[in-house]
Amino acid sequence: MNNRDGNSLRYAGYLTEIAGEPEPVLTQTGRGTPGGEYLRRFWQPVAYEREISSTPLRVRILGEDLVVFRDQSGAVGVLHLHCSHRGTSLEFGRVEEHGIRCCYHGRVFDVDGKVLEMPGERAADKLRGVNRQGAYPTHAFAGLVFAYMGPSSMQPPFPMYDKFDLPGYRMEPGIRLPFACNWVQVKENAMDPAHTAILHAWEGMFASEFGKFPEITWNETPAGMAYFASRRVGDKVWVRSTDILAPNIHSITSIFEDGRDLRDCSPPWITIWTVPEDDESCVNFLVEHLHQEDATPLLARQRAMGIGQTPDRLYAERQKVPGDYDAMVSQGTIACHSLEHLGTLDTGVVMFRRMLRKGIEDVRAGRDPHGLSRKLGVIPTYGSDKVVPATEVSGNADDPEALLEFARSVSQEYLKRPPLAAAVIPRPPAMPKRTG
Ligand SMILES: [Fe+2]
Repeated sequence: MNNRDGNSLRYAGYLTEIAGEPEPVLTQTGRGTPGGEYLRRFWQPVAYEREISSTPLRVRILGEDLVVFRDQSGAVGVLHLHCSHRGTSLEFGRVEEHGIRCCYHGRVFDVDGKVLEMPGERAADKLRGVNRQGAYPTHAFAGLVFAYMGPSSMQPPFPMYDKFDLPGYRMEPGIRLPFACNWVQVKENAMDPAHTAILHAWEGMFASEFGKFPEITWNETPAGMAYFASRRVGDKVWVRSTDILAPNIHSITSIFEDGRDLRDCSPPWITIWTVPEDDESCVNFLVEHLHQEDATPLLARQRAMGIGQTPDRLYAERQKVPGDYDAMVSQGTIACHSLEHLGTLDTGVVMFRRMLRKGIEDVRAGRDPHGLSRKLGVIPTYGSDKVVPATEVSGNADDPEALLEFARSVSQEYLKRPPLAAAVIPRPPAMPKRTG
């Protein structure tokens, strides 16, 4: 065998590993698992507000079956699904003035899990002191219902990021996108801007300028991590950045940005929470950021957000024009990292996993993980688009090293002064300039 001419790499199917173990520490989401305890330190969306009503909604979050409802007094409840009396599912319960009544024997549980009624039960007074329904604190924001599923003593305030309150913009609930795979592989896609140059160029949805491989640098940020991807576009240089807010939130700026017009900064286009249902499935909850002059979320935009993000297309079509869904879910239900062969383009994925492992370790050791803020106040974020004349790049703007250096300088500039601190955030391109 001669390794130098690569002969040992030829027709090596029988010698090549095909089975690997997933990384349980990163990918487990249940209660009591290191990853599950880590995720439970953060507020997680469980449903859109429009999905909840006087009809109970059954959901699965972090391996727990839950029921979500709004009682007649307007209070929102997120309770364990199975009635603490004899286990009947509260999805068949009746929502009352206060709380929800189990359909089987009529026990009523308030939104905080307290037993309000035990009809016909002689020992009610005694039992009420010991019986309760598992319940989680809730917070409604941007059309989503969030729950805090961790230990009460560790409950942080709901985090307010700068992009959630931008002058001239508002947030509108978008659509729910389920993925039949572990949440980590869905989220790490957000720190992998290189894939846009292949996958989304095939897809043709993004501006065609995304089809050029960018020069990328990644940085830790106060609330998570970010990438800065620079490209030369005509006589301009475009630096696009995206940040993950630990552990599972990220926003992207408009996919119709093409880097051809000068731009100081741009608002987020959509923000995405990737929430595990369990170890083998997750949901992307999307929220749109709309300019005040955009009356309602545009159907076209809704569709744009969903294309390539679902398996609801003909198989032949998905094979011809695959999307993120196909790329991420086909990595396996829980992707095996031991089988991968990573390169420099995967630096962001490696950093993301490292951030998770560190956060998991911190929670295990009783410390607050990176990105968990106990301070009230606005948390800066770093996702934006910046387009400058190519002459602003020191050196030759066609030289990958010069482009990378420029991306680094933008990252340092942003870390000193977050891009969304600008007084006026210019509107992004709403739709593609090109046709077709
Ligand atoms: Fe993508």
